[in-house]
Amino acid sequence: MERRRLGRTGWDVPVIGMGTWRTFDVGPGEEPRVREVVDAALDAGTRFFDSSPMYGRAEGVLGRALRDRRSDVLVATKIWTDSPGEARRQLRTQLDLYGGRVDLEQIHNLVAWREHLPWLEGERDAGRIGAIGATHYDESAYGELEEAMRTGRIDAIQIPWNARQRAAERRILPLAAELDLGVVAMRPFAGGALAGSGDAAELLRGTLSDPRVHVAIPATSNPAHARANAAAFRSTAF
Ligand SMILES: NC(=O)c1ccc[n+]([C@@H]2O[C@H](COP(=O)([O-])OP(=O)(O)OC[C@H]3O[C@@H](n4cnc5c(N)ncnc54)[C@H](OP(=O)(O)O)[C@@H]3O)[C@@H](O)[C@H]2O)c1
Repeated sequence: MERRRLGRTGWDVPVIGMGTWRTFDVGPGEEPRVREVVDAALDAGTRFFDSSPMYGRAEGVLGRALRDRRSDVLVATKIWTDSPGEARRQLRTQLDLYGGRVDLEQIHNLVAWREHLPWLEGERDAGRIGAIGATHYDESAYGELEEAMRTGRIDAIQIPWNARQRAAERRILPLAAELDLGVVAMRPFAGGALAGSGDAAELLRGTLSDPRVHVAIPATSNPAHARANAAAFRSTAF
């Protein structure tokens, strides 16, 4: 699969990752089905998974589905709280689930980002976090996202980027390129609204047509879709 450097993290990442919102928030009876999705994605070369404490059971389901292949992938998850105690608890849970390390720890929807940055930097220095990111799903927050980016203290951002949502084009993507930040594209199918209306591979190629975007994280509950999404960027065989 085509790979890109995730900005200043320096990580060389296949361009199709996987999101876990809704699709991984399942009970024990449905976990085998999610494992099939993860196995299909891994076999197709997917190496980047995104989760959050906001996604209910998803972080745990992801950790169990990765099993002994944890070290093959980058785990991106999030801190989602304005409470310092709860934030540390969220990280402890993640470290237990992901073999003692979160590769990309993102501040979900910029919640309490000024308060979280100092201790997350300490965790990065200690090696329990690989890089620090910030996310927001809504363009009305892009002014604040810019402010966080300009601190020079975050390594990556996650923003919606699909045929309908291109607001990041104006200021966020140019600034990310200037600062050499990693860019993760959430919602490549606009939450599924686009998936029914066009060729999925074409939609993913549209999301990644801008080289300032490094990895897209479509969510799916279907192993065949996990394979098809990865295949949209299969390298030619010569
Ligand atoms: N604030 C934040 O930080 C934030 C906010 C939103 C999302 N995110 C992240 O971004 C990830 C992706 O966004 P999303 O989950 O909202 O939506 P999405 O990835 O844009 O769309 C998911 C939908 O697309 C369908 N789909 C996937 N592959 C397909 C294919 N090959 N053919 C046809 N349909 C396909 C899925 O249905 P099937 O199950 O049938 O495949 C699912 O309904 C989330 O899971 C989450 O990790 C972050």
